[in-house]
Amino acid sequence: MRTVRNLRRAIADYRGRGETVALVPTMGALHAGHLALVKRARRAADRVVVSIFVNPTQFAPTEDFSSYPRTFQADLKALAQLSVDIVWAPTVPEMYPPDFATRVIPEGPATVGLEDRFRPHFFGGVATVVSKLFLQVAPDAAIFGEKDYQQLKVVAHMARDLDIPVKVIGIPTVREKDGLAMSSRNVYLSEQERAVAPELYRVLTQCAKRIGNGRPIAATLADGRAAITRAGFALDYLEARHAETLTPIRSRRDGPIRLLVAAKIGTTRLIDNIGV
Ligand code: PAJ
Repeated sequence: MRTVRNLRRAIADYRGRGETVALVPTMGALHAGHLALVKRARRAADRVVVSIFVNPTQFAPTEDFSSYPRTFQADLKALAQLSVDIVWAPTVPEMYPPDFATRVIPEGPATVGLEDRFRPHFFGGVATVVSKLFLQVAPDAAIFGEKDYQQLKVVAHMARDLDIPVKVIGIPTVREKDGLAMSSRNVYLSEQERAVAPELYRVLTQCAKRIGNGRPIAATLADGRAAITRAGFALDYLEARHAETLTPIRSRRDGPIRLLVAAKIGTTRLIDNIGV
């Protein structure tokens, strides 16, 4: 579906029959991680809507909006196999008409100094497009990946703050056999970079284990940061945060811990995270 008008008509039809709706927002270039979200959506509602929209407002001018992988025909095929009811694929002017002039600026988990520190416009773009998607589809449930852990918390918080009646459901990160988190951006990796990439997950796992065993957080993270840099990454951050608020955490007594990492290998920026 390409227009809000047609989308709303189809959704109204479902609603008229008393059916529930689940939404899976994506930017396409679908992989097994996205498809796990779709399978979860099938269990959550009678009808499943998957949006495919490479959202320009969440990319900085220096980022990869124009080169972001686009595999629309293959995406449609994969979604047809999962009996998705609607693929919502608006054009940029349908989503953002030329006189578009509103932006949703999230705070709380969106301003804790993780992704927001390195991509200052990112969560404004995400919150704007996701609130539009929530209003367009009016889903009962929306499925997001823990792969983008800060995004998941930002979206859940935003829906609550704006009284959008949607249940935000998070699902665990789907990984390659060697531990690398699946990502549409993994296609950017050279063979050599791809061989180094799983180091991020290895370090996360090792840090989580050590902290779980009672080793001090600061020293564990210092070792982890050194290992990531040694492997050839340019590290943006490796942090231990409160798993719900994402605020800094110094000891296991302060609450459930999530470890979050972002690092560049060559020109490709990878993110990952894990619970302790
Ligand atoms: P995109 O990167 O396409 O991701 C769409 C959804 O798939 C997100 O909820 C993301 O967390 C989830 N996902 C990606 N890789 C995953 C993996 N390996 N395992 C589990 N889930 C995974 O995130 C976005 O798009 C955009 O910011 C969007 C929310 C669509 C707004 O434009």
